[in-house]
Amino acid sequence: MADVVTYDRDGDIAVITVDNPPVNALSLPVRQGLAAAFAQFEADSKAKAAVLICAGRTFIAGADITEFDKPIEEPWLPKVVAQMEACSKIIVAAIHGTALGGGFETAMACHYRCAVPTAKVGLPEVLLGLLAGATGTQRLPRLIGVKDALDVMISGAPMPADVAHKRGAIDEIIEGELLDGAKAYARRLLSEGALPRRISEIVIDPASLPDGFFADYRKDMARATRGFFAPEQIVKCVEAAVSQPYSESVLREIELFMECMASTHSKAQRHLFFADREISKIPDVPKDTPVRTLETVAIVGGGTMGGGIAMNFVNVGIPVLLKEVNQEALDRGLKIIRGNYEVVVKKGRMTEAQLEKHMSMITGTLDYDALADVDIVIEAVFENMALKKEIFATLDRVCKPGAILASNTSTLDIDEIAASTKRPQDVIGLHFFAPANVMTLLEIVRGEKTAKDVIATSMAMAKTIRKVAVLVGCCFGFVANRMFFPYIRESQLMILEGVAPERIDQVAFDWGMAMGPNGVSDLSGLDVLEKVRNEWIDRPDDRVFFRMITKLVEQGRLGQKSGAGIYKYEGRNAVADPAVAALAKAEAKALGVAQIDINDEEIIERLFYSMINEGALILEEGIALRPSDIDVVYANGYGMARYRGGPMCYADTVGLKNVRDAMLKYRKRYGDLYWTPAPLLEQLADDGKTFDQWSRERA
Ligand code: 3HC
Repeated sequence: MADVVTYDRDGDIAVITVDNPPVNALSLPVRQGLAAAFAQFEADSKAKAAVLICAGRTFIAGADITEFDKPIEEPWLPKVVAQMEACSKIIVAAIHGTALGGGFETAMACHYRCAVPTAKVGLPEVLLGLLAGATGTQRLPRLIGVKDALDVMISGAPMPADVAHKRGAIDEIIEGELLDGAKAYARRLLSEGALPRRISEIVIDPASLPDGFFADYRKDMARATRGFFAPEQIVKCVEAAVSQPYSESVLREIELFMECMASTHSKAQRHLFFADREISKIPDVPKDTPVRTLETVAIVGGGTMGGGIAMNFVNVGIPVLLKEVNQEALDRGLKIIRGNYEVVVKKGRMTEAQLEKHMSMITGTLDYDALADVDIVIEAVFENMALKKEIFATLDRVCKPGAILASNTSTLDIDEIAASTKRPQDVIGLHFFAPANVMTLLEIVRGEKTAKDVIATSMAMAKTIRKVAVLVGCCFGFVANRMFFPYIRESQLMILEGVAPERIDQVAFDWGMAMGPNGVSDLSGLDVLEKVRNEWIDRPDDRVFFRMITKLVEQGRLGQKSGAGIYKYEGRNAVADPAVAALAKAEAKALGVAQIDINDEEIIERLFYSMINEGALILEEGIALRPSDIDVVYANGYGMARYRGGPMCYADTVGLKNVRDAMLKYRKRYGDLYWTPAPLLEQLADDGKTFDQWSRERA
């Protein structure tokens, strides 16, 4: 038997322990070990019951995801769990931490389940574009009912022990030491004459479901699961669980599981699972880098952005000083924050008392001297280099030594800002995304002189305020906005070429964006984009660039906030505006832009390949550490569906040669200003490689 699974016996109780750090994933040795241990248990005449328990921080957290791209090696998990359930003597699963996916499936193959009160159980496979393919989709509906099982599997959210206990997924909560409690529970079951209780033998009565149950369920989940492949597969599995005998429906489950596994969606979602964990690994800032104390925070600028940033800290109990230029602006800022919290109260997610407590943690000030003792200052004024430099020079004068001076700039040069202080090592960019109290992404921008402990502290701070932090280097627009500009640029040009903005948005939406480029531009504010364009010293020498935005801003059409932008707004509803189509036509004529027919495929290629090429340049310049870091930025900051895996993963899926060849096609039409493939893209396309392979080879 492999060491990762051990077999011991305490009197008449066998104790089978899985010890495969960090999360006891079901790798091949673990599956082999379980098969051998349960065979030993069956043959051990002195053992009357078995307890399955795990060492370390958690019960089995699932199949080993790293094995998914390799050929399957026997014994398969479905085989192992079938062997366990068939045991003639009782097995008790003893759960702590998280029994997830294959881990929970293993627990469901046991005849009884006990858990500590802090444990969680669930089937999160859907988040990896998969389904619980080791009998989970067949056992859970039998165990807790069809509707609850579907909710657990479609959301992927784990059930806390008390909920699982109430639903019958956990039989016993163990308050004290788990192993002792589990053995005592097994002995009690033996004394009561308990027999193996096999979930597979439970029959679901189809008549217990309301008429049209599955059709209604599909309707209800449609919005939340739009575009994803796995949820429908899960529903099909549960339909089979209801309508077919277990022996047949488990085979259907395997068939549907294999389809998920082969899908590009699952590959992309698994890619993001690891990408989300890679982002915190910074080669020259190891995990043990010391961090500075961060107990007090000041924010300069109490506008929408500053207020949203303040809420992040207050929400986790860190008090904030909010600095504004005058009382009126300060009052306005505090009112916006209060308004945001009132929405949360209305939704029932916060009480009035909590609202008041949160507000009491924000202290307004008009005086820079009040910032003398804070641990970090985050500047959040509008995008203007001269203003930011003035503010940082002041902060340098008033703040205590060692305070971190951060800018929330979304585009500007952190090194230039840092140069206005005598402590560039303490200066860093913290680019929050609007609305800052809602969006999870945080770009941490490293300046040339930023100290390593300032980076480590910022990464730790991001964790505290529950942000997904990606470390990036300094360039105009960093990673997020720099790649967003070509996307907007192409959308703008296509409007001039005669494509309706709503069609571009629909194609982008159907592809997997939460909102198309024109809707997003209106939401961000066209004036904001225009300001960015003006601040961009090295912007392309091109009269057509962002042309519609410039013209619409001249007309006072600033987007949603002014009731009209690329769309006009009836309430919050965007409506196509013939005036914009007319403006596009007139501008195209004035600029000599040809009116052409553009199909949906071209819309996708121009929006996303232009973005991908910028990503390749960003990688070459070392602005992003890894292609997968860029993918995390886009999955979290711009609402790109996780089943695309981010732009660089999408490029790998399409094939880099195809991306490069499409770029050459557009270069022929538009010249080389925008459509020259980045050298890295050229090289990888020639070598038949992916960004992912390139990244692994460099690691
Ligand atoms: N397989 C392989 N590696 C895994 C893993 C898994 N199932 N789950 C976690 N890991 C790795 C992580 O990549 C990470 O590695 P790193 O340190 O090298 O970056 C390490 O374990 C620790 O993981 P976290 O940083 O995520 O640790 P946390 O303590 O924050 O979270 C967890 C622990 C809640 C278990 C979280 O890791 C998690 O949600 N894991 C995935 C659970 C899951 O999706 N299970 C289903 C798998 S699919 C399946 O079972 C198919 C079956 O139905 C047939």
